Amino acid sequence: MNLSNPIQYAGLYAAEFGEGTFFLAVHGFPLDHEMWLPLVSYLSNDCRLVFPDLRGFGKTSFPVNEITTMRQFAEDLHQFLTQKQQTSRIVVCGLSMGGYVALHFARMFPECLAGLVLCDTKVAADSQTAADNRRRRADALPTTGLPALADAMIPNLFALNADEDKKQKIRQMILRQSLNGTAAADRGMAERPDMTDWLPEIHIPTLVVCGEQDQISTPTEMKTIAERLPNADFVIIPHAGHLSPLESPKTFAAYMKEFLKKLS
Ligand code: MLT
Repeated sequence: MNLSNPIQYAGLYAAEFGEGTFFLAVHGFPLDHEMWLPLVSYLSNDCRLVFPDLRGFGKTSFPVNEITTMRQFAEDLHQFLTQKQQTSRIVVCGLSMGGYVALHFARMFPECLAGLVLCDTKVAADSQTAADNRRRRADALPTTGLPALADAMIPNLFALNADEDKKQKIRQMILRQSLNGTAAADRGMAERPDMTDWLPEIHIPTLVVCGEQDQISTPTEMKTIAERLPNADFVIIPHAGHLSPLESPKTFAAYMKEFLKKLS
């Protein structure tokens, strides 16, 4: 595996690998940049992989308020890129919550993008019940704690027969997040707007990726997202669940290589 070059701009920590097209990958909830590491050996000869830790997650020790909106995360990433002097020809890829952030980024800063990758994510807002549940979960988090959150989430993150080792790594990743950062992002997700009507306006090349067994953002739901986008392809990662890039990094990377070739 190539060695990581840790970088820090605008208060955000990121790991960087390889050379070429700037590929910014945004992690899901409540994870950090390490979820992308299985891709390094497959993709670092094809692009420059940059994996940031969002505000309140991983090694980014950034002040966190009561709520971190998806818009705030996208603004943070733009600040990061501005300070890094890399604000054009970027591919932004986001998984689940990272996909909400990537969509906000595409809406707010389209001039920065060469391509967009939406993995195992949604474009609709939460229902009132789902949003209320999230807010309750966030408020209770200091009492219930991260182990209970991990227990509740992990069964839905992976495909049946997923590797136990990968599950354990994700569990450890969840346990090391901060309570404040996690609760703030959960409240932020509850507030996120419905982006459905905006999809026809995204003309940048987009790849929509879904794990075949994703129970959170199902293949049917994600195919509909791709159909609403004017310039999108849709791919399914066989035998993978909600965390498709880390469950099947080789297959995921093969699709990324094809997508990057199309952009060049
Ligand atoms: C994620 O994987 O980021 C979460 O499933 C997002 C969410 O809770 O909506």
